[in-house]
Amino acid sequence: MLVITGASDGLGLQLAKLYQKEGKKVINISRAKSEFADINIFCDLQKCSEIKSAVQEIINRDEPLEALINCAGVLSIQSIDEITEAEIDRVMSTNVKSAIMLVSGLIRKINKDGTDIVNVASSVGLKGYVNQTVYGASKWAMRGFSANLREELKGTKSRVISFCPGGFKTKLFEKATGVDNTEDISQWMKTEDVAVALKQTLDLPKNMEVSEIIINRK
Ligand SMILES: NC(=O)c1ccc[n+]([C@@H]2O[C@H](COP(=O)([O-])OP(=O)(O)OC[C@H]3O[C@@H](n4cnc5c(N)ncnc54)[C@H](OP(=O)(O)O)[C@@H]3O)[C@@H](O)[C@H]2O)c1
Repeated sequence: MLVITGASDGLGLQLAKLYQKEGKKVINISRAKSEFADINIFCDLQKCSEIKSAVQEIINRDEPLEALINCAGVLSIQSIDEITEAEIDRVMSTNVKSAIMLVSGLIRKINKDGTDIVNVASSVGLKGYVNQTVYGASKWAMRGFSANLREELKGTKSRVISFCPGGFKTKLFEKATGVDNTEDISQWMKTEDVAVALKQTLDLPKNMEVSEIIINRK
């Protein structure tokens, strides 16, 4: 089985679709149901108590965990003087803290099963942008988490992949701003294609760890 956070929409949903097509059991963790998950664990990833319950539910299944894909995320855009503590907490807890909590809670199982971990960061975690201080910090932090986790899992069968795509067409921006900026399709990669790139990276032989993958739109 595979666990994908945020498989109710966007990239996570496309990943769930790909894995289901291949006959894999997909467990989604998000607030809404995923069309392509076999099991939905309803969980607000901002809440540690709900993450702990989700961890227990996965452990109770007692089935090998092939991969954990930390994909859930929220975008945040504002000028530097408009940043609030509540927004920092919302973005950091959803985009980074939840992934760390999930891995920490599942670490014994991850070690036992040789579970691969994919942490979805972003090209925003590779350089700086105006008005993206909070979101950018969360994505840089996600890359930092991957680097540290790779050291923790050295000598195990688990691979840690830091996945850093550029823009692809989802409702991420619209959910954050109320505006759909994806009408001009030429500006965005297809979410399906980005999902294929991530899956192909995981499909490589277990002795090949692509530590970081950066995908830019041509
Ligand atoms: N789209 C892009 O251009 C782009 C580029 C680079 C990186 N990324 C990253 O790729 C990942 C997926 O983004 P996307 O564009 O596919 O976004 P999306 O379509 O908005 O999907 C986001 C997913 O995250 C889940 N989520 C958000 N807040 C949550 C919470 N509090 N608890 C549980 N689940 C939560 C949502 O589920 P529920 O609402 O059902 O809870 C949804 O399934 C994110 O980490 C994003 O930062 C996106």
